[in-house]
Amino acid sequence: MKLNIIANEPAKASNEKAYALFFVKESIQFSKVLSGKALDQAESVLKGMKDGPFEDLEFLEIDGNNTFFVDVAKERGLSALDHLRMAAYRLAKKAMKKQVACVSLFLADAANEQFKAIVHGLHYADYKFDAYKSKQKDDFQVTFEIVAGDRLKEFKKIAEDVAVEQKAVILAKNLINTSSSDLFPAEFVDRANTIAKYTPGLSIKVRNMKQLEKEGFMGLVTVGKGSSHEPYMVTLEYKPAKRTSKDHLVIVGKGLTFDTGGLCLKPPKSMPEMISDMSGAATALAAIQAIATLELPIKVSAVCCLAENAIGNKSVLPGDIFKAKNGKTVMVDNTDAEGRLVLTDGFAEAGIVGATHIVDIATLTGAMVRALGYAVAGFFSNDDDLALKVINCGEACCEKFWSMPLEEEYADALKDKFADLKNTGTDAGAIAAALFLQEFIPENTAWAHWDIAGTAFVTKQWKYTDYGATGFGVQTLIELAREMSAAE
Ligand code: BES
Ligand code: ZN
Ligand code: ZN
Repeated sequence: MKLNIIANEPAKASNEKAYALFFVKESIQFSKVLSGKALDQAESVLKGMKDGPFEDLEFLEIDGNNTFFVDVAKERGLSALDHLRMAAYRLAKKAMKKQVACVSLFLADAANEQFKAIVHGLHYADYKFDAYKSKQKDDFQVTFEIVAGDRLKEFKKIAEDVAVEQKAVILAKNLINTSSSDLFPAEFVDRANTIAKYTPGLSIKVRNMKQLEKEGFMGLVTVGKGSSHEPYMVTLEYKPAKRTSKDHLVIVGKGLTFDTGGLCLKPPKSMPEMISDMSGAATALAAIQAIATLELPIKVSAVCCLAENAIGNKSVLPGDIFKAKNGKTVMVDNTDAEGRLVLTDGFAEAGIVGATHIVDIATLTGAMVRALGYAVAGFFSNDDDLALKVINCGEACCEKFWSMPLEEEYADALKDKFADLKNTGTDAGAIAAALFLQEFIPENTAWAHWDIAGTAFVTKQWKYTDYGATGFGVQTLIELAREMSAAE
């Protein structure tokens, strides 16, 4: 996909070019492009789309011009902005299929957020993950000519920002979709090193198993020691050249490059999906890459807690007790509840680097999948201001978040007879996990926990993802950093 943002349409239109019209309920959005005659014809097409025989996406000749008609309100339950993303996504897919070299969109009337949504939608249509196919096919390249009128400068800047955000989304998706035998903790570290090397303002610190053990990061050691692939912790730090906010946002990501469940082995049916159990770490890495590239004026760190939850002769045994970095002891009641164990180290590290705000992002519980499914992420927070920002930033990025309670009535269920805590709690599995995490949050730190178990990876088409990683969370994290740097 190529974007060509111009002030006015060239006088002589090429015959390879098609126009695209977005419409909502029989009225055309951003409509100035049509001549009187074309408008009459378009209106009759829209009628035909409402009552038949036309479908919600048509490619027809109107007043001598090839024209796409895209129904912007097709899907149920999406916000107005997400409808635009989807409309642009469907348009781009259709244009690729029809091999239309250039599609012209008149967007001078669009608001900035609307334009941004459309550009995101066009980018999403380009994504494919065919690294494992024996033959790679080249998709047809469509150029989208955006007529911006006097918004040219603004739109160009927005398109640049979207390109950075989409690069991050693609990075996260590629990491998540990669097989676990090809993306084990050390390989993730290599990728993070490369990103740090080529992103100005980004520095990196890596701890291997020996260093983790020496410094008492025992969550990662406990979970990772059963695998032939040793665990790592990666801390990336972005120090802005210009800083407008005193806050230091630390993103902590669950990075289980594979989760067999350990000795509490998972059933085979749900296991292949566990290649995505490092989605949190991938999202954290991708977000900080974009935040640094966009030079947002806020200090941000990302802590990736990387391990493979495998079965081996050194695997943690159910009933084993370890001491976490903050001094609390934990009995491993269930080896499949491993994400919360590695995150204890991420929180300790967040405290060490001086977090004022922590957002952890994790494919943490099956309970969250059952509660909210694939379209909404549940989150927990100890800070109302941060919670509101999460919801608002999510909305701006077409990512849905639902606030869940840190219900103290369930806290006692995490107590253990021998140790301070155990890693399983009540039937309310997502809440139990969040309450466990809360025990490891450094004092006086605003914290939000995002459980993306349902939203990170889909096994059937959802919005702009056919199958696999969705990239959920990347954009909201970037937006959160943007919002936090603007707030003071
Ligand atoms: N990685 C899983 C959670 C998960 C489930 C992610 C489905 C994506 C899709 C996590 O480590 C896990 O297994 N959690 C257990 C915890 C339980 C044993 C207390 C769960 O939710 O079943
Ligand atoms: Zn697990
Ligand atoms: Zn897991």
